[in-house]
Amino acid sequence: MCGIVGFIGSKNAKDVLLNGLEKLEYRGYDSAGIALLNHNEVYVVKEKGRIADLSEKVAENAFGEVGIGHTRWATHGKPSHENAHPHQSTSGRFTMVHNGVIENYSLLKEEYLKEATFISDTDTEVIVQLVEKFVEEGLNTESALRKTLSLLHGSYAISLIDKEDSQTLYAAKSKSPLLIGKGEGFNVIASDAMAALKETDQFIEIMDGEMVILTRSGVQILSAEGEEIERAAYTATIDATDIEKGTYPHYMLKEIDEQPAVTRRIIQSYQNEDGELTVEQPILDAILEADRVHIIACGTSYHAGLVGKNLIEKLAHIPVEVHVSSEFGYNMPLLSERPLFLFITQSGETADSRQVLVKVKEMGYKTLTLTNVSGSTLDREADHAMYLFAGPEIAVASTKAYTAQIAVLSILAVTLGREKGIAAAKELDLAVELGIVATAMEAMVASKELVEHIAGEFLATTRNAFFLGRSVDYFVAMEAALKLKEISYIQAEGFASGELKHGTIALIEDETPVLAIVTQENINWNIRGNVNEVLARGANACVFAMEGLEQPEDRLVIPHVHPLLTSLASVIPCQLLAYYAALHRECDVDKPRNLAKSVTVE
Ligand code: F6R
Repeated sequence: MCGIVGFIGSKNAKDVLLNGLEKLEYRGYDSAGIALLNHNEVYVVKEKGRIADLSEKVAENAFGEVGIGHTRWATHGKPSHENAHPHQSTSGRFTMVHNGVIENYSLLKEEYLKEATFISDTDTEVIVQLVEKFVEEGLNTESALRKTLSLLHGSYAISLIDKEDSQTLYAAKSKSPLLIGKGEGFNVIASDAMAALKETDQFIEIMDGEMVILTRSGVQILSAEGEEIERAAYTATIDATDIEKGTYPHYMLKEIDEQPAVTRRIIQSYQNEDGELTVEQPILDAILEADRVHIIACGTSYHAGLVGKNLIEKLAHIPVEVHVSSEFGYNMPLLSERPLFLFITQSGETADSRQVLVKVKEMGYKTLTLTNVSGSTLDREADHAMYLFAGPEIAVASTKAYTAQIAVLSILAVTLGREKGIAAAKELDLAVELGIVATAMEAMVASKELVEHIAGEFLATTRNAFFLGRSVDYFVAMEAALKLKEISYIQAEGFASGELKHGTIALIEDETPVLAIVTQENINWNIRGNVNEVLARGANACVFAMEGLEQPEDRLVIPHVHPLLTSLASVIPCQLLAYYAALHRECDVDKPRNLAKSVTVE
C-alpha cells in the first residue's frame, strides 16, 4: 500500500510527481503529498484526500528539479494532513516519503529521539528524525541513512531529499516494492513501473536491504555494507495505453469487459507450436514430485484457489489444500512429507502471502507463484512462476485477474493430469473449452442492462445480501459477496446453500436479497430447494442458472460451458451486479473506502 515516486532531472519534477501519483493512486488514496527541492529550498504540500485534491493545492509556480511524492493508505495514524507524507526532520533539512511498516518505531523513538518533537503519529517521522540525528552527530547523509536503515525492523520503501544537496536523491527498500526508472539526464524511482512509464521504459530492480543514490546522470546501488552493486536495466513490457481508462467510466467496467480477450490471450500464451496447451516441464516435475499442493492466497485470489483445488484434484488427482495466507503463516497445519506451495497473487506483492513464502523457503519446500506481475516480489522469490497475461489490473476490486487465475490453473491441472495419464485430463480439449468460455464471457459482459436492472431491484437500498451456491458455485458465491461488500458496502455473505438452514437462515427477513448461482447438474434441485426455503421466509430471491438447468422464473441464463469451468462465466454477472449496486448507491467504484490495491503490509 502507499505509492512513492521520486524524480531528479533538469525539468520541473512537479508534473512528473503528480502524474506518477495519479498512476499509483490505486495503492492508497486517503492522503497525498509532494516535496520539491529548488536551490536549497524545500516546498512541501500535502492534503487529506485524493491526488486531484492535492493537485489543486500545489502552487502553479511550484518548481524543483528534485522531488518526492506519496499517496497514502494509513497504517500508523488516521488519514489527516499531519499524517500525510512527506515528513520532515525537526530542522527541515531532510524530507522523506515512506511505504511500509516500521515495527520497532516506538523503541527507536524511545532510545534515540527522546528530545525530538514529533508532529505526526507516523513511523516515517521516526526514520527521517533518525537521519537528522546521525547527521548532527557527524555522519554525512549517506552514512546517516545507512545507519538508520540498519536499525529498522519491518518493511520499507523510502525516498529522501536533503535540502543542502540538490544534486542527489536517496532511496532504499526492504520488503516493500521500489524500482529505479533510468532516463537520459534524469532518473526516477517509483513503487510501480506504471508511475514512471510516461518518462521511461528502462527500469532497474532494487533488492531488499539496498540503498540507492540517484543523480541526474547516475545510478549508484549500494549494499547494506556500502559496497557498490552493478545491475543492468530491463525494458518494461507494459503498454502505456493499458493503464488508461479510455472511454470507460471506471477501470472496473473496462476490466470486466476485458475478460474474454484475456482468456483468449491465456490460451495463446500457453499453446505450443502444435496448438497444445503446455506448462514448463520443471514446473510440472516440481508438482509431480510433491505429495500435496498447498495453495496460499488472500481475498479474491484465495477464492480462485478454491476453484483451482477442484480443477487440480479432478483433473490431476493431486490432493490440494487452500489456505488464507495471513492464517497459514502463524498457525501451520501438519505438513505432508513433500508439499509444494502454490502462491496465487495478482500483484505479486501481497505481504501476507510473502511472509508464508519466506517461511516455507526457509523450511526447504518448493514454491511456485502464479502472478500477473512479472518481476514482482513473489515472482522473483519463488522457485518457479507462471503468469496470468491479464494486463495491468487497476481497479481495486479484482475481476479479470480472478478469471485469469482460474484459466491458468485449469491449464496447469490438465497438463499435470496428462503427465499422469489421467483419463479426465486426456479427454478434455481444454483449448477448445476455454474458447467456448471466452464466447460465454462475451454474452455475460453483454448482459449489462439486465444485470443493472437486477442490481436496482435487489440491491439499491438493502442493508445485507446473501449469495448461495453449492460445490464450485459456492466458491463463486463467496467471490460475488466479496465484490459486493468491497465496492457497495452492503454486508454480504457467500454461503454453501445447504448450510444455511444450520443457523444463518435466522437472518432471512422480508425482502432480504438472496441470489443463487446454479451451474452444476448434480446439485440443481438441492439448491433450488434451499431457495424455496428462503422464499418461504420472505426473501427476495433470484437465480442465475446455466443453460440447460434453467427454470422459467430464473433471472439470468449463463451460456453452457464445461462443468469444471463454469466459474469463469458465472462470476461475470456477479461482478456486474456489484458494479451496478455500487453505482446505484453512488459509491466510488474504482477506489472503495478503506481499501488499496496492493496490500504490502501484514
Ligand atoms: C478483492 C481484491 C483482494 C485481493 C487480495 C490479494 O477484489 O482485490 O481481495 O484479491 O488483496 O491480492 P493479490 O492477488 O494481489 O495477492
